[in-house]
Amino acid sequence: MLYIGVDLGTSAVKLLLMDEKGTIHNVVTKEYPLFFPHPGWSEQNPEDWKKAVLDGIPELLKGQNPDEVAGIGSGGQMHGLVVLDENDEVIRPAILWNDGRTQKQVDYLNETIGRDVLSARTANIAFAGFTAPKILWMRENEPDKFARIRKIMLPKDYINYVLTGVHCTDYSDASGMLLLDVKNRAWSKEMLDLCGITEAQMPKLFESYECVGTLKSDIAKALGLKESVRVAAGAGDNAAAAVGTGTVGEGGCNISLGTSGTVFISSKSFGVDPNNALHSFDHADGGFHLMGCMLSAASCNKWFMEEVLKNSDFAGEQAAITDDRLGNNPVFFLPYLMGERSPINDVYARSTFTGMTMDTGRTEMVQAMLEGVAFAIRDSLEVAKSLGIRVERSKICGGGAKSPLWKKIMANVLNIALDSTDSEQGPGMGGAMLAMVTCGAYESVQAACDSLVHVASTVTPDPEIAARYEERYQQFRKIYPALKPVFRAFAE
Ligand code: XUL
Repeated sequence: MLYIGVDLGTSAVKLLLMDEKGTIHNVVTKEYPLFFPHPGWSEQNPEDWKKAVLDGIPELLKGQNPDEVAGIGSGGQMHGLVVLDENDEVIRPAILWNDGRTQKQVDYLNETIGRDVLSARTANIAFAGFTAPKILWMRENEPDKFARIRKIMLPKDYINYVLTGVHCTDYSDASGMLLLDVKNRAWSKEMLDLCGITEAQMPKLFESYECVGTLKSDIAKALGLKESVRVAAGAGDNAAAAVGTGTVGEGGCNISLGTSGTVFISSKSFGVDPNNALHSFDHADGGFHLMGCMLSAASCNKWFMEEVLKNSDFAGEQAAITDDRLGNNPVFFLPYLMGERSPINDVYARSTFTGMTMDTGRTEMVQAMLEGVAFAIRDSLEVAKSLGIRVERSKICGGGAKSPLWKKIMANVLNIALDSTDSEQGPGMGGAMLAMVTCGAYESVQAACDSLVHVASTVTPDPEIAARYEERYQQFRKIYPALKPVFRAFAE
């Protein structure tokens, strides 16, 4: 049988068609626009996601037997607020995971309601990208639209709603709303009350691998699929990517270098970072995970290459960064183009280059940018270490991991081995694997991972380079605290 994996990302949706042996039969990518209507805001139109998925699936099925498709599973960009009215019309553009408009609401939640209270109810504190502060923002700034809300959901849940007509979500994605009691896998009544919403407006909760329904007949007809196709609840894209790289069960680690950059540590048991710098979320395998998320990872590279250097030859630009330069660059880059989430939680943080001299050229700046992202990922890994979590190796995935140089920098900055799996399709592959479990092709997410995920290559740190990076990292750590008051002052 065949399974469709949907990776509903921030720049595009990537669809893949896979069989239960793990062979990928086709991949289709459809881009859609991202809007920044004010500095720090970030929005997308759910209708654009819908069109991309509904146009993309028939393309994906070209030359295939659509009757063999048994299931669909999605991994979606997390935290985005999607609101529908009583006619199921989208009320306003979705407010995305990297939107920074809600500082006032975040301060109210963290300071007035209190971090301890939030953490006790949800296992997390408020971050600007999370969904609850956005609901409070809408209540305050768009009261008429807020009053029309009948259904609240997350980005991939909107796609599942279009496909099945079932208003649903999964625990991994719901964890990032700050409305879920993560430990007990249930909506927090107190948090819903606090946001002025009711459980009737919230999606029904499922495990990621559970079936939420089958295709609506008009949708099945439009896609050329059978109505019996089963739709999995799916997962947040990081949990889906973790499934796609086999990061399930106890103590696995996956680093994703996508638009965002994440460190994802899987666990069979529930745990909370006492300082809440790392998120404590449910996992798509039925367990839990801790996660650090930086807002701009591969997007720093895209921005610097396309907006500043006006060069689309990413590999060519990196060719001058030879091994002898690694750990020897006097230039530093703070990767906070959209503010930052983990671990500093500061919407006012901004990007800077520091340490340039007259002999600094573009090579040093490109290198500093790649290194800055690696240092910021290390910041989250350091938090994990401080909790006593030992990470000796990790999977790595996402667009940024296609650069051998960036992977080498990451391995040396983090001083751990980094494994790449044979499929580069993290969240899409995870989505397809969840659909396989939904359809009974595998009895559990773990079993699907055991059979389908294989390590294809490993980058190990070089002790000399790692030692040089250790020194650089200690210098990097001094830059943000020194500039923090400046960023604050500029924001006023
Ligand atoms: C995770 C997060 C991002 C998005 C990217 O908390 O906000 O990784 O899920 O799509």
